[in-house]
Amino acid sequence: MGKVLMKIFIDSADLSEIKQAYEWGIADGITTNPSLMKKAVNKCKLDGEDINLKGYIKEILLISKDTPVSLEVTETTAQRMIEEGRKLYEMFKEFGNVNIKIPINPSFEENNLTHFDGIKAIKKLSEENIPINCTLIFTPEQALLAAKAGAAFVSPFAGRVDDNLRKRSGMNFNKTDYFPMEGISKNDNGIVSGIDLVKQCVQILRQYNLKTEVLAASLRNTRQVREAALIRADIATLPFDVIRNMLKHSQTFEGMKKFTADVVEEYKNLL
Ligand code: G3P
Repeated sequence: MGKVLMKIFIDSADLSEIKQAYEWGIADGITTNPSLMKKAVNKCKLDGEDINLKGYIKEILLISKDTPVSLEVTETTAQRMIEEGRKLYEMFKEFGNVNIKIPINPSFEENNLTHFDGIKAIKKLSEENIPINCTLIFTPEQALLAAKAGAAFVSPFAGRVDDNLRKRSGMNFNKTDYFPMEGISKNDNGIVSGIDLVKQCVQILRQYNLKTEVLAASLRNTRQVREAALIRADIATLPFDVIRNMLKHSQTFEGMKKFTADVVEEYKNLL
């Protein structure tokens, strides 16, 4: 049984969110992706700030104090992802514990010829001792190949699996709605929920004592975080709001109201 409690990464490129999570003392790392970068850059622009992305990323790395920070490549062929991964790593490695995010498969559709380019890039960069976080994992077999190619982390996208299962069964849902871990349909390729995908990745990689860590990604609510911990994911990467919501409960509020109302003068005079 693992003795290290599940690590919490913040899934954000927003400096104020990242600062806050590290000030609270609960962040063990940071994951970013091009969409999160775009959101952060647009927010700076809206605030009238002239953003220098290199400086901005350095600030993220300084806050992270040597905990792992994922930066994602944007290219879509093996050669270019390798070149971009090397450059990103070299550019930022002195400021922190950078790892490079590579998609398991950079193709956009079946007809593309680049289905193995993610694996090639993971293999090459891992051989150069650049830690890789393999992203956009939707099956345990993708995780298996990524681990085999040397990825330090594999990121199964739990919430997006749930989106897909709900869409296919014609359900209406909100992005943050809870999805039952045990699933809702039979037509699911043996992966009954996003958390089930994470669980299967954990089982396979642990079974063979691989060093690759399972990083549960695309988690959208607190109950999924609980389930990720129950199935012993190594890491859960969480949007800032999910981290905040983990501490809230109406009965905790009620309890606090009553306890503070019940404090007697004698108790206060003790101190
Ligand atoms: O960590 C991956 C994450 O950023 C994707 O989340 O909610 O867009 O599926 P989401």
